[in-house]
Amino acid sequence: MKVLGVESSCDETGVALVECAEVGVPRLLAHALHSQVSMHEAYGGVVPELASRDHIRRVIPLTECVLADAGCALADIDLVAYTRGPGLAGALLVGAGYAVALAAALERPTLGVHHLEGHLLSPFLSADPPEFPFVALLVSGGHTQLMRVDGVGRYELLGETIDDAAGEAFDKSAKLMGLGYPGGPALSRLAQRGRPDAFPLPRPLLHSGDLDFSFAGLKTAVMTQHRKLGPAPASEALADLAAATQAAIVDVLAAKAMAALRRTGLRRLVVAGGVGANAELRRRLGQACGRAGVRVHYPEFELCTDNGAMIALAAAMRVQAGLARGQAAEAFDVRPRWPLQDIH
Ligand code: KG4
Ligand code: ZN
Repeated sequence: MKVLGVESSCDETGVALVECAEVGVPRLLAHALHSQVSMHEAYGGVVPELASRDHIRRVIPLTECVLADAGCALADIDLVAYTRGPGLAGALLVGAGYAVALAAALERPTLGVHHLEGHLLSPFLSADPPEFPFVALLVSGGHTQLMRVDGVGRYELLGETIDDAAGEAFDKSAKLMGLGYPGGPALSRLAQRGRPDAFPLPRPLLHSGDLDFSFAGLKTAVMTQHRKLGPAPASEALADLAAATQAAIVDVLAAKAMAALRRTGLRRLVVAGGVGANAELRRRLGQACGRAGVRVHYPEFELCTDNGAMIALAAAMRVQAGLARGQAAEAFDVRPRWPLQDIH
């Protein structure tokens, strides 16, 4: 079975083709991505209406590119999957509308996929795929969650952020330091030249005894330190502040992930979502997991941030697990707010 996946929940248009048998890990045949980062950069963040319009422009050329790369034709597609939520309503509607229209024209079924389930399962497309059960640390621009994952569709929330997400902490700190959007990659690049202990920043909820996170206070502390540097901070001071900010975020993420592994007794960790691309987080988790005898799995680097491959993959794995069959291409809806625990 060949599954086309369409991702359009935020600022990347992603399309991919995945092939799967009745059992076994699905195989990625081709994927293509258009990032809108340069378009939103001028505004310091994602402008939803611009995002929707750009998805419309990109989705058909990306599909053509994926089919050409895979050496397939439209008629080879057996199921058209799309991101049903969570995300920006207008942006989701573009992908959903396109996927359902394409499926109707091809007389194939469609399947709406949860964006976070896509991130969660994305390491299955890597050269070193995990096995169930595992603890998942989901760290994206909008979500920070620890889950116990016993199989496809079997997700138990262990803890999550009570305010900002980890990616948001990176982005907001970077923005107030004048590093532009999206801030995570820029801040982590700058942090390479800085001293992580140069500024005293809080580690919110580090010793709370539960698996929840809080990053809003950290952003305020970064703002206070940044103000103290004056209107034109030296580049060394800025690099120090970037390193200290990254260290504070990474400390908390690593400590809570290890606590979740201890609490569940599981010996596998999956890290997914955009912040999973952060080199310092990978280094720290690598050390801690090495000491604890835990295997840690990541998606391929290019599949850490949003992409169509994870959507096609999640659809294929749901079908394989007997959890979904695809629906007739008729009416559709999107769910801009959609807790992962609510998927059936
Ligand atoms: O998963 P994702 O692509 O989109 C959402 O579903 O939100 O994650 C985007 C987030 C942004 O906050 C971005 O700044 C962050 O991931 N990010 C990083 C890095 N690369 C992306 N944060 C820290 N270090 C990175 N290298
Ligand atoms: Zn995402």
